[in-house]
Amino acid sequence: MTAERSGQTTAGMADERAPRGLFVYVAAAFAALGGLLFGYDTGVISGALIFIQKTFSLSTFNQELVVSVVLVGACVGALSGGRLADRFGRRRMLIFTAIIFIAGAIVCAMAQNVMMLIVGRSIVGLGIGLASSTVPLYISEVSPAGARGWQVSLFQFAITVGILAAYLVDYAFAASENWRWMLGLAVVPGAALGLGMLILPESPRWNAQRGNLEKARSVLVKVRGTHHVDAEMREIEATLHQAHEHGHLSDLWLPEVRLAMVIGIGLAIFQQVTGINTVIYYAPKIIQAAGIPSASGAILATAGIGLVNVVMTVVSMWLIDRVGRRPLLLVGIAGMAISLGVLGYAFYSPARSGSFAEIAVVTLMAYVASFAISLGPIFWLLIAEIYPLKIRGSAEGVAAATNWAANFAVSLTFLTLLQVIGASRTFWLYAVLALAAWVFSYALVPETKGRTLEEIEAAWRTKGRVA
Ligand code: BGC
Repeated sequence: MTAERSGQTTAGMADERAPRGLFVYVAAAFAALGGLLFGYDTGVISGALIFIQKTFSLSTFNQELVVSVVLVGACVGALSGGRLADRFGRRRMLIFTAIIFIAGAIVCAMAQNVMMLIVGRSIVGLGIGLASSTVPLYISEVSPAGARGWQVSLFQFAITVGILAAYLVDYAFAASENWRWMLGLAVVPGAALGLGMLILPESPRWNAQRGNLEKARSVLVKVRGTHHVDAEMREIEATLHQAHEHGHLSDLWLPEVRLAMVIGIGLAIFQQVTGINTVIYYAPKIIQAAGIPSASGAILATAGIGLVNVVMTVVSMWLIDRVGRRPLLLVGIAGMAISLGVLGYAFYSPARSGSFAEIAVVTLMAYVASFAISLGPIFWLLIAEIYPLKIRGSAEGVAAATNWAANFAVSLTFLTLLQVIGASRTFWLYAVLALAAWVFSYALVPETKGRTLEEIEAAWRTKGRVA
């Protein structure tokens, strides 16, 4: 790790080597639309479900299925998406992902029965999974080292905007009870993603890995907006002897990548088991339990939480290439642990005073703000930058799939935990897991700020773990 942590000195060099062209912003912004769909499609169901239930008279089990089948699809999509992105390229996978999103949205919007809806939601889930493994990868490979942090974080930013947009669309169509429009509107960003990727280039690093160095160079020239790309090309070529043959799944456990795998999988689990989606999916319920009885008040407070999520993600993007990944991660996770502790205490105190609901809402906001500057963006960023090129897609896919599996487990158990051990202990449990996440991050997570992907890859190798 020492090699990574001493990486700051190379930041300036990396910047010089890779002057920024306008094109890279366009590429990153279009790819991030995959994140918007991710956020929209996970967020939209909370408001749509009440009306879907009316149309099809869903049983509780079928309701749970309509909600959670997305997570199962996402897990499958993430696992296969990474590997397919290594094989067929990042760009082609993103075009395919856009088609999947569009198909899923149309099937959902036109569903004539619950079976068709469940099929549509599985297709949407597949799209979300594919996006979660391919978007950060693509952005990290086209971005210059000095701006990679905030550019990959555009993905998380888009997720949060997608969630907020979903809350607002749900609100807008609530009066007409038109859940078909709520689910169908995802066609719009889906089409934008597909069209954008049709005109954007393939990742230079993937081209190089496939032996197409000329193409890699011409893409670099285009995205950097300069012909001075020799240094970056040399670095990419230097890693090619590691990457020329196709990575196998068994390569994921080679000694030189094992620690990186542990970090990716560990952060994937911690991002979810510290409870973020209990808030994202069930915020109105938590707020009502805290004493704001009216549904509209709860929805308004939920939208406020969605807004905090967006704004603090922007703050994180502003800081991430300046102060680095580690400080943000550690401060943010500490904030999460503290706010979860306070939340547990607030629900614990037997005599709830008049300001109880306000305290609960403010604490929820503090919790979401802490997540948004740390585990939210930094998990997706790190899994796009810490793996060697040879297995980057597959390894990221494994981390993303683990994240979806953990998300599924937490979403399924949250309501039961509330019933069995109560709200306080549930939040305290998440607080303890946040403390564990802090220790894990402190001990293992490397600083990658300002370093090229090739420097990060070399640093893992120089730790004496190369087979
Ligand atoms: C997580 C999602 C979560 C979202 C909230 C993402 O980083 O992976 O599970 O819903 O952040 O902003």
